[in-house]
Order: sequence, then structure tokens, then C-alpha cells
Amino acid sequence: MRNIFITRAVPDAAIELLRRGLPDAKIAVNPHNRNLSHAEIAEAACGADALICTLADPVDDALLRALAPALRIVATYAVGVNNIALGTARELGIAVCNTPDALTDATAEVAVGLMLACARRFVEGDALTRQGGFQGWAPMLLRGHGVYGKTVGIVGAGRIGKRVAQAMRLGFACQILYQARTAHADWQDELQAEQTGIEDLLARSDFVSLHCPLTPQTRHMIGAAALARMKPTAFLINTARGPVVDEAALVAALRDRRIAGAGLDVYEHEPELAPGLAALDNVVLLPHIGSATHEARDEMGRMCARAVVAVLTGQEPAHRVV
Ligand code: DGY
Repeated sequence: MRNIFITRAVPDAAIELLRRGLPDAKIAVNPHNRNLSHAEIAEAACGADALICTLADPVDDALLRALAPALRIVATYAVGVNNIALGTARELGIAVCNTPDALTDATAEVAVGLMLACARRFVEGDALTRQGGFQGWAPMLLRGHGVYGKTVGIVGAGRIGKRVAQAMRLGFACQILYQARTAHADWQDELQAEQTGIEDLLARSDFVSLHCPLTPQTRHMIGAAALARMKPTAFLINTARGPVVDEAALVAALRDRRIAGAGLDVYEHEPELAPGLAALDNVVLLPHIGSATHEARDEMGRMCARAVVAVLTGQEPAHRVV
């Protein structure tokens, strides 16, 4: 009998697909409404043929070695794979699959939403209105920055970055800059986008939107020096991974008004926030909900289930990272 362990409750769509594809498999799901520790996963998944994990689980070298040789696949309910020891998985012959594309639209929506919310001060306006501070229309009330026609810098020219660029170009006539080693013809042809280096992008953008994976090269890519290059009227948007930004440096830049504001969906030490961040009025904070639509989360679940069924029935899975 096959054993599948799932580290957090996932949409029914995934479980149904697993049951159809592997009718005699035993499927166990973390019964708690919280993330499991490393030791808890090691214990609960001991002997499992497949592990469906999330981006919050430390699927590191020690865990993979503890679960080998039974474990044949790790299917992560995410596109990012920075929490998984890919080298160890490769060495142990454990397949690693992710969920690209399923969350492109959803995450792009949150990035665009954060740009609007920051620039037009939605959260401050909501709080003021709820608290009875709206005393009637006034010419100087909550003036923000316009979005239409501004310059948007996209760091990480993958699927999500491109969808954000499309929305901002087609919806708001923005000029698009993107950071990439080589020019992408489709960005140029469809969006009249300009490829440039990170320093130039930071200096010219009104919105800097992060869409790169977390790697040793991108960790703390946005630190004090990068923030100092941004315009004082510019906003930083992060829907990628928290550690791409040095959060202490960001708090200092926001506090000193060295940039206009930030919209964050992800944090350096998630779910903890850097000291001082939550007290600032020029930052909009979301609890990592980039992919949190019914559509995206169902499809992410189905993609994990399809990957598990494929590997455990000897087929090649569609989205194999390792
Ligand atoms: C991912 O898939 O990497 C996202 O951060 C999940 O929302």
C-alpha cells in the first residue's frame, strides 16, 4: 500500500484526484491548524512514499535523508522551491515537483493591488473611515501618488513578472523596465518594455516589483544600498520571497521616508515581522496571500496530486524540478 503524507489541509480537489489515481493509497493529512515542526514532519511522514508539503516546511537535507529510501516524491504546494534541499533530493533519487503557472494570475493581482493600495493610500483611508475620521470631502484629504503612466520596474522576468508588466502596461499605460541578463523579444514586442540592469531599474522606477526566486544571489538583493538608489517617491512591492529584501534596512528606509512606501506580502522571517515594520503608516502588509484564490489553490492542489500519482505509478510528472 502507498502512503502519502500532506503537511497542511489542502482543497478537496487534490484529495479527490489522489483517491481516483491511487485508490488503495493511505492518505494522511496534518490534523492541526498550524505548520508542523521539522521533527513532527519527520515522524508523521516516516515511511511515506510521497510528501505533499508547503513553502513553510523545511524540507532540508536532514529531513530528506530521514525519509529516504521510502520517499519517492516531494510535491510542493508552491512554485518556489527555496525550502527544499534540491541537491539532496537529486542525490537520493527523490523527485521534486512544484506548481508553476497555477498561481501566476493570482499573485500578479496581489502585486498590482499592492501598488494601488500603497500609492492611493487605501489602507489609511479604510482605517480613517471606520474610525469616524471622515468629516466630509476635502481637497487635501489623503492625497496619494497617481499610478497611470508611471514607470514600473520588474525584477525577475518570469511568468508572474510578465503578467504584472502586462497589467500595468495595458491597464495603466506604464513604462515597463525589467531586469534580465538578455533582452526578451516578447517583452519588447508586446509591452515596449526596456531591459536594464538592477541599478538603473531601481533609480528610474516609480514602482519596483519583485518577482525573482530566492537564491543565494537574490538573498538581501534589496538592502540599504539598493533602497538608497530608489527615488524618494517610489514604492517597493514584494510578492516573491521575504529574504530578497533586508527587512531591517527597509524599515529604516520607510521610517526615514527615503522611499515613499512599500507593499509586502512576504517577510524575511515569516511569519515574524521585523521590529518596527507594523508601526509604520507607509507600508501595506498582507499575510502571504499571493496565490490565495479558490482557482489557484484548487489548481495547485490538483497539480501536486497529479505529480504524486504520476511518480507512484511510474510515469514522468509534468512539472519536475528535480
Ligand atoms: C509560491 O507558490 O511560491 C507562493 O509563494 C505561494 O503563494
